[in-house]
Amino acid sequence: MVTVPKQAPRQSLTVVDNRTNKVYELPIKHNSVLATDIKKIKSQAGDDRKEDETEQGLRVFDPAYMNTAVVESKITYINGLDGILRYRGYPIEQLVKKSDFLESAFLLIYGELPTKNQYSNWQNEIMHHTYIHSDIEGIFKSFRYDSHPMSMLTSSFATLGAFAPEANPSLRGQKLFTNAASGDPAALQILDKQILRIIGKAPTLAAASYRMRQGRPFNRPAQGLSYTGNFLYLLDHLSGTEYRPHPVLEKALDALFIIHADHEVNCSTATVLQVGSSLVDPYSVVSAGCAALYGPSHGGASESAIRMLMEIGSPENVPAFMAQVEKRERVLVGFGHRVYKNVDPRSTAIRELAEQVFQVTGRNKLLDTATTLADYARKSEFMRSRNLYPNVDFYSGLIYQAMGFPLDFYPVLFAVPRCVGWLAHWRQMMLNPSGVKIWRPRQLYLGEGEREYVEADKRKEKANATPFDAPVEVHHGGDSKRNRLASYKDAAGHTRDRAKL
Ligand SMILES: CC(C)(COP(=O)(O)OP(=O)(O)OC[C@H]1O[C@@H](n2cnc3c(N)ncnc32)[C@H](O)[C@@H]1OP(=O)(O)O)[C@@H](O)C(=O)NCCC(=O)NCCS
Repeated sequence: MVTVPKQAPRQSLTVVDNRTNKVYELPIKHNSVLATDIKKIKSQAGDDRKEDETEQGLRVFDPAYMNTAVVESKITYINGLDGILRYRGYPIEQLVKKSDFLESAFLLIYGELPTKNQYSNWQNEIMHHTYIHSDIEGIFKSFRYDSHPMSMLTSSFATLGAFAPEANPSLRGQKLFTNAASGDPAALQILDKQILRIIGKAPTLAAASYRMRQGRPFNRPAQGLSYTGNFLYLLDHLSGTEYRPHPVLEKALDALFIIHADHEVNCSTATVLQVGSSLVDPYSVVSAGCAALYGPSHGGASESAIRMLMEIGSPENVPAFMAQVEKRERVLVGFGHRVYKNVDPRSTAIRELAEQVFQVTGRNKLLDTATTLADYARKSEFMRSRNLYPNVDFYSGLIYQAMGFPLDFYPVLFAVPRCVGWLAHWRQMMLNPSGVKIWRPRQLYLGEGEREYVEADKRKEKANATPFDAPVEVHHGGDSKRNRLASYKDAAGHTRDRAKL
């Protein structure tokens, strides 16, 4: 560190470029410097590779976004060190206790808790938009019976877009949604209508993926039930009239939906914004969000956590499993978080819910293993030194399992409420008064410099080739031995002897 003469404090960063001895003063705003200000720091290439583009300005290298803010947002605040999560300023613990999912959704998207009148209109509009076109049911039926519900959900959101050409900027003009930033009522209306449609239809699509797996006919949305009550109806109703879900389970699911509704610029929300920045339709945007959420490092973790607990089997096997984790042979799923380096406030709220649910459903058999694992992890030097604490997914899976949801449905139970967060961020982006710039990161190119094309007969196998340098041999699972031994004529009429191929 270089010591510079003391001056009066000011909101700026002074940088000395030792390549040129030039001094730069970069403004600091909200405790950040602009990456485009860093780009003003230029030098002659010297020994740098041409591909380093040194003369075009210094770049910020941040693989995996370890310390990069990509948006200015007013939606959700997380403080990872103090374990704080707030939606629009309201602590998550208060919302879980006092709010309901649709109210929190309104808060996240529009910035304030709704008045009674606003809430009633909002609820009516969302429930009005729960129906899906019957052709979309056909899309579900074209999936195999054992398709993962997230594959179906991801596809079905993209499919919804095909049913809403009036909401497609590729067809109706690039500024279809961004015109809303200037208050254009038609643009605002089309923007908010898609929000209603997506939030309204998300449970219907999710339930269709579930019923498809079960080989059961799809239910039509029920009016007169809450958002989560209707979701449970869509999932579970078989026959009879006046279906009412168990109030404790309905309330618990609603609270879980609040907890999962938003989480700042996490992997799937960043994906949503990345994709949204191309100005594609919101259905494609949400579908992309689902794809990102599905991964086991993100929303797939609750499913993986339960699979892990089932594999551990019982509390006495915990030490052996933890030994594998400490040798870095295994990941302890449901632990660790990019932002929370202390307790995950969502996991605290969820533990209370778990107790309420278990009183109704009976205790989850994996709870003892989970508790032993959490105790063991708390004392483990490996876990402590890396600030790895249980996250939301460690406990949510236990509740879902007690409620009888199949394992592969857990990410769907995450995706339905997360649509709200995605749409809140997407709307905020579309309403940016300075317009929407396409998200286009740069790379540090470390590959070959320019080289001349080599004709096929002059090419040689690479010396010291590794298994990564060419496609590995793959096995053709569907090819029977009989077929491999057969001979046949190809489309051009040439006889092919497959045994010799
Ligand atoms: C969430 C997660 C992806 C965050 O990753 P990250 O911020 O990039 O953290 P890192 O991968 O840099 O981890 C830092 C260190 O902790 C270790 N670590 C992180 N999570 C771990 C886990 N769940 N089990 C074991 N070790 C873990 C890493 O191996 C690394 O160790 P090292 O410093 O010796 O190399 C990661 O903690 C994880 O994979 N957790 C399990 C999946 C999960 O529960 N996801 C849901 C999140 S809500």
